[in-house]
Amino acid sequence: MSIPIKIAGLGFQVPKTVITNDDLTQILDTSDEWIRTRTGIGKRHVVSGNETALDLGINAAKQALEKSKIDVKDIDYIIAAASFGTHIYPSTACEIQNAIGANNAACFDITAACAGLIYSMGIARGFMKSGMAKNILIVATDTVSRCVDWTDRSTCVLFGDGAGAMMLTVADDGQDDILAVDLISEGNIGHHIVMPTAGKNCPLVEPNDLEPMHIKMNGKEVYKFVVTKLPTYVEKCVEKSGLKMEDIDYLVPHQANLRIIEALQKRLNFNPNNVISNIEEYANTSAASIPIALVESVRNGKIKLPCSAILTGFGAGMTVGTAVVRLREGIV
Ligand code: ACO
Repeated sequence: MSIPIKIAGLGFQVPKTVITNDDLTQILDTSDEWIRTRTGIGKRHVVSGNETALDLGINAAKQALEKSKIDVKDIDYIIAAASFGTHIYPSTACEIQNAIGANNAACFDITAACAGLIYSMGIARGFMKSGMAKNILIVATDTVSRCVDWTDRSTCVLFGDGAGAMMLTVADDGQDDILAVDLISEGNIGHHIVMPTAGKNCPLVEPNDLEPMHIKMNGKEVYKFVVTKLPTYVEKCVEKSGLKMEDIDYLVPHQANLRIIEALQKRLNFNPNNVISNIEEYANTSAASIPIALVESVRNGKIKLPCSAILTGFGAGMTVGTAVVRLREGIV
């Protein structure tokens, strides 16, 4: 019999510092009107001073752990979806392990950009269903504000920083909360969102002129890819779950652009009142955007528990991930 998985706890953390669209006009030739009408973004929370993705991730992880009531020593794995952690190594997951005292866990990071939470859920689900693990902590944390080019107005205005966490455990009551996961990558169009990691060559050889460490994105191509392909991938995952689209209470999409979210809602014919968006407040927080939207919406009453939901994200790679889940009371 398939091992049932419980989504036992969730949490999120964003930096306190807020930058509005109007603030950005001090450093860019842009306007609140342009950014709002093209994206739905009004502001973004960004790290300031020495604040890091690790700090945000630790706080989100502690919240999810507390809600789950699982003993930190019983965590078997920590998976961090962190495209731009504080260090390439040690991994963000190992650093979170150390900070929360999860001494019995094996820890690693994955890179799936904005689809990172769903990819991590897919990996965790496989580990748990095969009996390799009983308790897995997922932390999605990114500080994209540190890797955008703040002179590139077509990209830098889109992003914010944040972290979200999800604690998974084997369900004692037999209810499986992760009904389906569908992951797909389209590496052939990966060049539309690129973040190089150029280092310096050995001083004894010719220096390189590789691109600096800044996100470069062809927004138009990403937009086209997402609005044409994402709905089909979501439908495929819903079909796998055994539920019907009309039976699912909420749609919680990655918060990249309000126009993409609206196009997805229309194509899926999903009740617009039950499509979750908080992009106005947080912008695109990469892998953290789905858990931030989920947790905040439960806290402010927009999502009522218990419920079912579609979580769907897409990002650099290109990666696309969708999960159909059940969310119980008490997890937020
Ligand atoms: N302020 C003012 N003008 C701007 C700005 C700005 N911030 N940015 C671009 N413009 C200008 C451009 O220079 C261009 O001017 P021109 O016509 O004189 O050349 C004009 O606005 C139109 O630019 P476009 O790029 O055509 O604008 P578009 O309508 O395509 O919107 C956007 C751009 C918002 C980026 C959109 O394409 C989009 O949202 N794409 C999807 C991005 C996405 O979802 N990324 C998610 C993945 S992120 C990850 O995985 C890390």
